Amino acid sequence: DASDIEKGTYPHYMLKEIDEQPLVMRKIIQAYQNEKGDLDIAEDIIEAVKECDRIYIVACGTSYHAGLVGKQFIENMAKIPVEVHVASEFSYNMPLLSEKPLFIFISQSGETADSRAVLVQVKEMGYKALTITNVPGSTLSREANFTMLLHAGPEIAVASTKAYTAQIAVLAILANVTAQSRGLNDGFDLIHELGIIANAMETLCDSKEEFEKIASEFLPFTRNCFFIGRSFDYFVCLEGALKLKEISYIQAEGFAGGELKHGTIALIEDGTPVIALATQENVNWSIRGNVKEVVARGANPCIISMAGLETNDDRFVLPAVNELLTPLISVIPLQLIAYYASLHRGCDVDKPRNLAKSVTVE
Ligand code: G6P
Repeated sequence: DASDIEKGTYPHYMLKEIDEQPLVMRKIIQAYQNEKGDLDIAEDIIEAVKECDRIYIVACGTSYHAGLVGKQFIENMAKIPVEVHVASEFSYNMPLLSEKPLFIFISQSGETADSRAVLVQVKEMGYKALTITNVPGSTLSREANFTMLLHAGPEIAVASTKAYTAQIAVLAILANVTAQSRGLNDGFDLIHELGIIANAMETLCDSKEEFEKIASEFLPFTRNCFFIGRSFDYFVCLEGALKLKEISYIQAEGFAGGELKHGTIALIEDGTPVIALATQENVNWSIRGNVKEVVARGANPCIISMAGLETNDDRFVLPAVNELLTPLISVIPLQLIAYYASLHRGCDVDKPRNLAKSVTVE
């Protein structure tokens, strides 16, 4: 119950929940460690993943965005093909399923009706499902064959923050553990890398003034704002844009850098804010090329890069972390920028208009 969870000295639940992210990372590392100190998950989940020939991730909203990142982890580490689907589209737009599909439902609340409808449908078809949720005993958890918990603690603000990073961390653990059980251990020390992530998150949470400055410089009067990135950064851009529109009501969209020239660039006017993420070495120069293209048309750019890839043009440099795990930290500036934009525009940060924390109707 929201009233039981204290905000403490925080003005809003959202800010408190953003700040809790380093702690949640550490809790997740603990929760998924066995007596030997290795990452581990329930044996029956490992078996289900081993038996399947394809994974279908089904989710809504922010959880869907976490699924997009999770697909990359599972394909990269465990070498199992993954599709990610929006729950509300899945039932009438069901893809041709593989012979041995495994379904993963990602849902902070475990109560989202659109996701539940798909779960009911695929269970009737005789398929197995794993639910990744923050709420033990939730509908989606009870009705699936398996559950993995987020250990993020109650999330009260409508705009999801710590659940998103928790979902990504749990998906990384799922990918890593199943990769090992398939003999695909490439020496990647996920516990160590997640520890570095937790510290980097702390550094970012201690840099709030920087993000407040960016918000007050770029967003107080703007009608719209674009987020551009390539590869992993593109997925985080989708989430950054969702955060901004949810709580500040600024029209915001996330785009793949390479798609700009196929339409979106027509929307760039004098002063249009464009927030660009540059955390991936292989696309660093191409995303910077996209920034040049929008700047040539008048855009006001804000580049957020990762240490090692930065240039003098960058507005903020993220601490270096493993390249695969950058979504866990690159999202934090975007969460904070959305928070301050909402605050400065006088919006209701924790309870934005027209939105519900958990949507229990289809
Ligand atoms: C609502 C919330 C979003 C959330 C989505 C999915 O729209 O406002 O923040 O991402 O539902 O919720 P779930 O609980 O299934 O993750």
